[in-house]
Amino acid sequence: MTTALVTGATAGIGAAFARQLAGLGSDLVLVARDEARLESKAQQLRSYGVKVEVLTADLADEEGCARVEGRCGQGIDLLVNNAGIGTRDAFHQAPREQEEHLLRLNVRAPMRLAHAALPPMLARGSGAIVNVSSVAAFTPGTRAPTYSASKAWLTNFSESLHLQYAGQGVKVLALCPGFTRTEFHRRAEMDLSGIPVRLWLDAGDVVRTALHDLHRGRALSVPGTQYKAVVAASRVVPPRIQRVVLRRLQSRFL
Ligand SMILES: NC(=O)c1ccc[n+]([C@@H]2O[C@H](COP(=O)([O-])OP(=O)(O)OC[C@H]3O[C@@H](n4cnc5c(N)ncnc54)[C@H](OP(=O)(O)O)[C@@H]3O)[C@@H](O)[C@H]2O)c1
Repeated sequence: MTTALVTGATAGIGAAFARQLAGLGSDLVLVARDEARLESKAQQLRSYGVKVEVLTADLADEEGCARVEGRCGQGIDLLVNNAGIGTRDAFHQAPREQEEHLLRLNVRAPMRLAHAALPPMLARGSGAIVNVSSVAAFTPGTRAPTYSASKAWLTNFSESLHLQYAGQGVKVLALCPGFTRTEFHRRAEMDLSGIPVRLWLDAGDVVRTALHDLHRGRALSVPGTQYKAVVAASRVVPPRIQRVVLRRLQSRFL
């Protein structure tokens, strides 16, 4: 029996991870801030016959992050660093505290949880870490630069860990989805009604692709052919041309 710790497990992509991992027979540790929602999610998932612990914690907060770190250090088989937030404001209009909060959640927390989870995994010679990044990691941000920069950090960090630990039995994957129907955009008060329907992904499909890619030992998982094309283009199109295209997309859709 394996144990997976999933951050942001009550909604969207994290909830899909928790559901699919429970379906595969994994015990779970669920992390989020809303205790009632966590308990209700845990109750539903126990119907799969797995053990489910809940850890109510704000990962952007020092004390909350330290408690989850402590649980990671006790030994887990899979860490899913999923909790993350976006912002809507132009950088100069965003409160500085909001930008710092984003960095504490999107960057500091995954780094600290990975740092705590790795030693027991390496001692056992097995384990896995999935860092939920974004396709936004591959290009400059059209609107919220701190968000895209946080995901560029997380993707590079994951690929570096993948390189470093691949030979020691620990798999590390950066999951880079595009627009996915979850609570994410509503929380950030973003209006994405102009985004074409074909660009939207389903959280369940995103997680199925990620688990398949993790199983295959890949470093990067980009669900959906439309986003695979975006990532491939970001690697070959010169940055100057990318900036022209991004400016046009920004004025049309965002
Ligand atoms: N949706 C997309 O289009 C999209 C695209 C690319 C990448 N992503 C990435 O996917 C990840 C998951 O996003 P999602 O779309 O599934 O978001 P979501 O539906 O808004 O769910 C966010 C989850 O994170 C938890 N959370 C939020 N702030 C937290 C905090 N400070 N401490 C602990 N838990 C916290 C929330 O629960 P509580 O509020 O109870 O804490 C909830 O369980 C994020 O890292 C995001 O950047 C999303």
